[in-house]
Amino acid sequence: MSTYSLQDQRVVIIGGSSGIGLAAAKMAADLGAHVVIAGRSQARLEQAKQFLNRENIEAYSLDNREERQVQLFFDKVGGFDHLFTPGASYVRGPVTASTEVSESSFKGKFWPQFYAAKHAAPHISKSGSMVLMSGAFSQRPLNDGASYAACNGAIESLGKALAVELSPVRVNVVSPGTIWRDGEEGTARGAAFEEYKSMSLLQRTGYNEEVAHTVIYLMTNSFTTGSTLYPDGGYVYL
Ligand SMILES: NC(=O)c1ccc[n+]([C@@H]2O[C@H](COP(=O)([O-])OP(=O)(O)OC[C@H]3O[C@@H](n4cnc5c(N)ncnc54)[C@H](OP(=O)(O)O)[C@@H]3O)[C@@H](O)[C@H]2O)c1
Repeated sequence: MSTYSLQDQRVVIIGGSSGIGLAAAKMAADLGAHVVIAGRSQARLEQAKQFLNRENIEAYSLDNREERQVQLFFDKVGGFDHLFTPGASYVRGPVTASTEVSESSFKGKFWPQFYAAKHAAPHISKSGSMVLMSGAFSQRPLNDGASYAACNGAIESLGKALAVELSPVRVNVVSPGTIWRDGEEGTARGAAFEEYKSMSLLQRTGYNEEVAHTVIYLMTNSFTTGSTLYPDGGYVYL
């Protein structure tokens, strides 16, 4: 058994055209996988394909908030081995925010992953795996995202339930802390990055590759299922 190889396996990443998803696509491709990426913007998918710079990269345009699109996507993709679902579009806000803002986390992050698991299930290999995307806010919310925190908590519970229901397919969840983004100096997001340093044991934000590494572990470790891992620099301990 080769524990760390994805050689000739087919890996589907919804939200694989930027950020954490793109870093996971690169790592999977480096380990020999055929990678399928999906996202809404065709231009971003093309850029990602150029960045990955390999044959055997497929890219599909998809809005994962639309269940029918998700179903058609998996019908088109056919059989595959591993699924990762970081694609999400939502706005975070306090409990007093508009209904639209409050509902956007579940509409843009929870239900898309639920639909993905549902419509991937008939096509995924029995020796394969799913990795859902949550966020460490589930364990340590701040004061501007009650529905976002609840959404991440729901995703972590969904992972456990799916691990039971879809066994022997393994289902796990990755729940990162704040990840560094270039070009945010002087913005509100940049200030949040600075603040994160004093809120985590390692006193820094993370990198896409550190989360991608966790995802690859969850795909390749054949005895891990129903788990949530927190690559967060110790955010939940301070
Ligand atoms: N970055 C962090 O600090 C952090 C921390 C904890 C958790 N997370 C979670 O990690 C995930 C990814 O974050 P990221 O920072 O890597 O984001 P990102 O760089 O903005 O990438 C998001 C990816 O998802 C795709 N996407 C967005 N909305 C979509 C939709 N409706 N349908 C299909 N694809 C869609 C994007 O492409 P298009 O826009 O072209 O569709 C892109 O490929 C999110 O679920 C986020 O909550 C991030």
